[in-house]
Amino acid sequence: QMGLKTTLLGKEIHYFEEVTSTNSIAKEIAASEEEGTLVIAEVQKGGRGRLGREWISPHGGIWMSVILKPGIPLRHASRLTLVAGLAVANVIRNMDLDARIKWPNDVRINGKKVCGILTEAKAEVDKVDYVVLGIGINVNMDLKDIPESFRAGSTTLKAELGRHIKRVSFLQDFLFELEQQYILFKTQPFSHILNDWLALSDTIGREVKVTTPSRIIEGKAVGVTPDGALVIKKADDTKEEIIAGRCIYARS
Ligand code: BTN
Repeated sequence: QMGLKTTLLGKEIHYFEEVTSTNSIAKEIAASEEEGTLVIAEVQKGGRGRLGREWISPHGGIWMSVILKPGIPLRHASRLTLVAGLAVANVIRNMDLDARIKWPNDVRINGKKVCGILTEAKAEVDKVDYVVLGIGINVNMDLKDIPESFRAGSTTLKAELGRHIKRVSFLQDFLFELEQQYILFKTQPFSHILNDWLALSDTIGREVKVTTPSRIIEGKAVGVTPDGALVIKKADDTKEEIIAGRCIYARS
């Protein structure tokens, strides 16, 4: 009914008008679903972002979660965040917009955020049972529908292109791209995807400040490890790897 071009992703779709969070629903049903199942909603009332933040999800966006069962070690689950970010950026770049990726998961256009990704995984010992890839894309919504404190630094595809976007065809293209990247992820060395990701990232080479619950690390972003951790070279020339945190670009 959606005219999908995929064979795995979206084989089963749970569609809702309104939910608290598609990620929460996906996690509840993941154990009994096959991989590729999609949870998608028009509106989220309790949308969740990274680091415990709220994700404002009014009408006009794409709020979705994909259930994957890649059978990988838990420490590799964050690689899928990079895979999803790469897929989103590729699809937006095909619309002639200069989408870039800010580590670990923001897709931005002209420095403004258009997509966020929240990856959640459940693992038995070290092997993942499932990964829920939560993807939020600001498509057609009115930025006025977003509280001012969240609006700063955000944009929508509609605002960038100056026209309404057909969400269904965007979703078809995105799922196709995500499926291609997921197949590469499962069949190729991860370095291939990482190289593509690095080419679209605007984080590497920048002076950054990364905040984690326990500390703040400042320095130059010099790379990403195969597990998706950001490598920072500090003023004293030592390097540090940060697996999760909030990254701020220093003004240059
Ligand atoms: C971030 O940038 O902090 C991540 C935002 C992730 C938002 C998406 S929208 C669909 C899915 N359901 C949620 O509650 N969150 C993710």
